[in-house]
Amino acid sequence: MALFAIGDLHLSFQTDKSMDTFGGVWVNHEQKVIENFNAEVKPEDTLVLVGDHSWGRNLAECQTDLEFIEALPGRKILTRGNHDMFWESGKTHKLNTMFKGKLEFLQGQYFCTYNDVALVGTKGYTYEGSDTPDHAAMLVDREMDRLQQSFEAARKAGYTRYIVFLHYPPTSILEEESGFTALCEHYHAEQVVYAHCHGEERFHDSIEGNFHGIEYSLVSGDSLNWHPKKILD
Ligand SMILES: [Fe+2]
Ligand SMILES: [Fe+2]
Repeated sequence: MALFAIGDLHLSFQTDKSMDTFGGVWVNHEQKVIENFNAEVKPEDTLVLVGDHSWGRNLAECQTDLEFIEALPGRKILTRGNHDMFWESGKTHKLNTMFKGKLEFLQGQYFCTYNDVALVGTKGYTYEGSDTPDHAAMLVDREMDRLQQSFEAARKAGYTRYIVFLHYPPTSILEEESGFTALCEHYHAEQVVYAHCHGEERFHDSIEGNFHGIEYSLVSGDSLNWHPKKILD
């Protein structure tokens, strides 16, 4: 049983927000996802989708997009992206009840996998210049609280191995440290997986590879040409 991740599917079956204008990699990307995932992910595997799932502005407008994700192979765990308007921050528990047996929603709690690894996560946040610094700092604090809650819930349940899933990159552009990286180091996370950076010019915005003993991976779908990235065997 393996653990896979991908982000930024930006599905739009019920809206007219096509991503095709962002380059050839986006043309028919839904079909590439179906073909690649069915070939590479087995029913017993776990697939974590790290945000920006749908352009729908509410749950009704996301129905077909979420059904598309449900139909992918494996157990599906979702984190929240900045474009996921259907997922109000206080409604995570409600979504987990509504989609029980189909999709699982990760924000501030944890999920366990087939072994002793806890999957922890939240949306995260990085300052990108389109916000006031004070508001950005408030959002960073809130998301760091959620990540800490996630770690603590897993730790109290007896877990000592953690993989972190964020939507936003763990640091601001071209930086190598942040409150998020410090928190991940404090809990000795093994890996940090993130997306949000799509378009080739953004693929190296944040850290990748091994930093201070943690493996960082960007899994935005276009950076992977719509193949899921294997995180654990
Ligand atoms: Fe995105
Ligand atoms: Fe995003």
